[in-house]
Amino acid sequence: MQTMQKSLDEIYQENLQFWDKAWQRVSKPHKELPKLPYIHELTRKLKKYQVKKVLDLGCGSGWLSIFISKYGFDVTGIDASKPAIDLGKIWAEEENLNVNFLACDLLNIPFKENSFDAIVCNSVLEHFRFDQAKIIFETIHKILSEKGFLFGCFDKVGTGKGEYFELEDSTHIYTDEIRKGMMLRNYSDEELKTLMKDFDILSFDKNSYGSRLVWTRKK
Ligand SMILES: C[S@@+](CC[C@H](N)C(=O)[O-])C[C@H]1O[C@@H](n2cnc3c(N)ncnc32)[C@H](O)[C@@H]1O
Repeated sequence: MQTMQKSLDEIYQENLQFWDKAWQRVSKPHKELPKLPYIHELTRKLKKYQVKKVLDLGCGSGWLSIFISKYGFDVTGIDASKPAIDLGKIWAEEENLNVNFLACDLLNIPFKENSFDAIVCNSVLEHFRFDQAKIIFETIHKILSEKGFLFGCFDKVGTGKGEYFELEDSTHIYTDEIRKGMMLRNYSDEELKTLMKDFDILSFDKNSYGSRLVWTRKK
């Protein structure tokens, strides 16, 4: 394990550069849906609770935003990587769907209070330090409407091969060629529940890969 010689800000910027480079290598939207059974249940719940406006946090090239928008929801997808957002825009245009894709950092979400009825987030929180995750959850709480919903899939990560050094809060910073700069942090169940202290947890399930599928409602 190497020791940390860079500032937290430099490390964070390098993480953003990692994502930009990763998405720059993708030349067209990958349209095959991941095999995640929960997504069908998710749209059923959004319909049941008469959700209209949905925000997809860290949407990548937009598969979840696109999927949800096909059910008639008003969807906004945000991601720090402009190349990813550009792919989402191309995809939405090709399918004649009206999804609002926007490049922005989750630490600087530009929406006002009560902007969304539901927020979804698939495999994104794992790329933030714990102190940053707290900021994101505070923002999510603010921009959700009264009794708005939050659905998150939080993966079990950091157990595979790879070279990295660790920050004080156990965030891994990868140094190997493939993931150089990427931040990755494994969140325990308890930490997730702490982050969601201002939400009622409606269900907290684990799939066979150890991912936590969490469905919550703003208190
Ligand atoms: C593992 S991918 C998941 C993408 C998508 N949610 C999915 O399910 O395929 C993580 C995503 O988080 C984005 N991301 C990383 N750091 C971010 C940040 N600070 N702000 C916004 N998006 C970020 C990356 O660009 C990447 O698209």
